[in-house]
Amino acid sequence: MATINDNYLKLKAGYLFPEIARRVNAFAQAHPEAAIIKLGIGDVTEPLPTACCEAMTKAVVDMGDRSTFQGYGPEQGYAWLREKIAKFDFQARGCDIDASEIFVSDGSKCDSGNILDIFGDRNSIAVTDPVYPVYVDTNVMAGHTGEVNAKGEYEGFVYLPISAENNFTAEIPKEKVDLIYLCFPNNPTGSTATKAHLQAWVDYALSHGSIIFFDAAYEAFITDPDLPHSIYEIVGAKNCAIEFRSFSKNAGFTGTRCAFTVVPKTLTAKAADGSDVELWKLWNRRQSTKFNGVSYIVQRGAEAVYSSEGQAQIKALVEFYLENAKIIRQKLIAAGVAVYGGVNAPYVWVKTPNGLSSWDFFDQLLQGCHVVCTPGSGFGAAGEGYVRISAFNSRKNVEEAMARITDKLS
Ligand code: MLT
Repeated sequence: MATINDNYLKLKAGYLFPEIARRVNAFAQAHPEAAIIKLGIGDVTEPLPTACCEAMTKAVVDMGDRSTFQGYGPEQGYAWLREKIAKFDFQARGCDIDASEIFVSDGSKCDSGNILDIFGDRNSIAVTDPVYPVYVDTNVMAGHTGEVNAKGEYEGFVYLPISAENNFTAEIPKEKVDLIYLCFPNNPTGSTATKAHLQAWVDYALSHGSIIFFDAAYEAFITDPDLPHSIYEIVGAKNCAIEFRSFSKNAGFTGTRCAFTVVPKTLTAKAADGSDVELWKLWNRRQSTKFNGVSYIVQRGAEAVYSSEGQAQIKALVEFYLENAKIIRQKLIAAGVAVYGGVNAPYVWVKTPNGLSSWDFFDQLLQGCHVVCTPGSGFGAAGEGYVRISAFNSRKNVEEAMARITDKLS
């Protein structure tokens, strides 16, 4: 008889976003007249930059012509895309990252889960609380945790609480942890990290032989010139950090699918025999075996992000969503609600009014305002008493949603 991976049975009911979608669909079916505005999942609404569309249209023509047709591409991504990423996203910021250290993929969510393939089963793992649930669930699936308790915490994780008191940035742990997940600008709280904060993490990782998984999927939303966009802006990070990046949020590729992961060749971790092994080699082996690369057409679209037109167009897109975030912040603050984030990030982290639980406030907003948010408790026990409001929507919908919510709160 075939058996299953029992670790899946430890997972809490459903992945957060499908669970929200299930509740919203049930409400929509019962109330077909309700004009529901979704500010829950961070999914973009604005069309792709013209530069990307034009590049992909041309790439389709390439594929229909014998002389330019492409079969399997390199599993790591085409050199012409990796070179642009290295130059524009890293070398231009003074980060010594080479094109060969970039691995193009179909998503940061997939990469941040898949990366566990190359790590051992006995690492101690630190996550913030609240946290992007993928980091937690993929470790549960891989058997790196015990059971979940009533608060939703899994045995075996080191949880690092983030709250208004510590500006939603985790304190450096007292104990030794091997793998550390950091996400800045932060999902879900919209907080950011200074260079000094990241330097403290890098120093910690270097002194303990730890590896930092740095999720920078929202770096394009940083407008403060003093804030780092990449962990490799921090001295020593090339010896302790893997970085995840995405075209989903800056160029609107959530449905188009393109991202990349940076694994510096200087990174090592221990084999069972105590020897140091280059993580780049393992990730390269993993990707070559389990992944066939992103389509030529999509990579051409991603390459266009780095053209001068593309750069101007993604800047405009990011500014558009940041203006939405500003509107959300301003309207809620005026209504007397405590809000965080939403300045260098597309997410606004909102304290629920009157001590309501996250799901109760979610239900109030859905049923009373027909607005969907994300309950903070879905991101971890310390997210209880908060909801996350996403700035990814049209201006009209954001303004309408805020009018409905502030009307209800007044
Ligand atoms: C979110 O809403 O947290 C994100 O859209 C999830 C993701 O990017 O996978």
